[in-house]
Amino acid sequence: MNNGQIMKRVAVFASGRGTNLQALIEATKKGEIPAKIVLVITDREDAQALRRAAQNFIKAFYLSPEGLTREEYDTLLLRFLQDNQIDLIALAGFMRILSPVLIRAYPNKILNIHPSLLPAFPGLHAQRQALEYGVKVTGCTVHLVDEEVDHGPIVIQRTVPVYDTDTEETLSARILEQEHIAYPEALKLLAEDRLIVQGRRVFIRDAGTT
Ligand code: GRF
Repeated sequence: MNNGQIMKRVAVFASGRGTNLQALIEATKKGEIPAKIVLVITDREDAQALRRAAQNFIKAFYLSPEGLTREEYDTLLLRFLQDNQIDLIALAGFMRILSPVLIRAYPNKILNIHPSLLPAFPGLHAQRQALEYGVKVTGCTVHLVDEEVDHGPIVIQRTVPVYDTDTEETLSARILEQEHIAYPEALKLLAEDRLIVQGRRVFIRDAGTT
């Protein structure tokens, strides 16, 4: 099933509805990825991601950011991660910027997904930004997380067309479908130790052999 590879222990951070979390859960459950999601962390008490974790018997924590600096918050998170022997982190709609405390503890071990073809349209409302700019093609990006927002080396991008009739909602839905394909693919590559990072470029070891 996983060619005798060691199963990586994954934490997913999510703040909202958690459809990318769900896609990762389903992909890992199929046994095609040498990884197991063992922890879900959220900064929002009402995050639907918590329910998805519970439905799948995954340990989940809500950690309130109230009264904490970013570094204090991330130091607490890091303790949870270490207590749970987490190898890899996937950010899935996590609405906080990570501090160097976490990023330096997990160099090239943190993935993020963003709903545009980076470096175009970083930050919030990427789909709205794409529509307003008038691009004809957009998509999603899975990248490794570095100390700048929506910036680290790119692992996978998938494109979608923008139609004249699109609204922010229809475009977001089209991109989301591609996110749910791209994110499991990227996690698989990371979990298989197949990403070779040279500067900004990410090469895939043995591309085309699986
Ligand atoms: C996705 O569009 C993702 O690209 C962005 O936040 C959204 C999260 O959606 N970072 P969901 O919570 O995974 O449904």
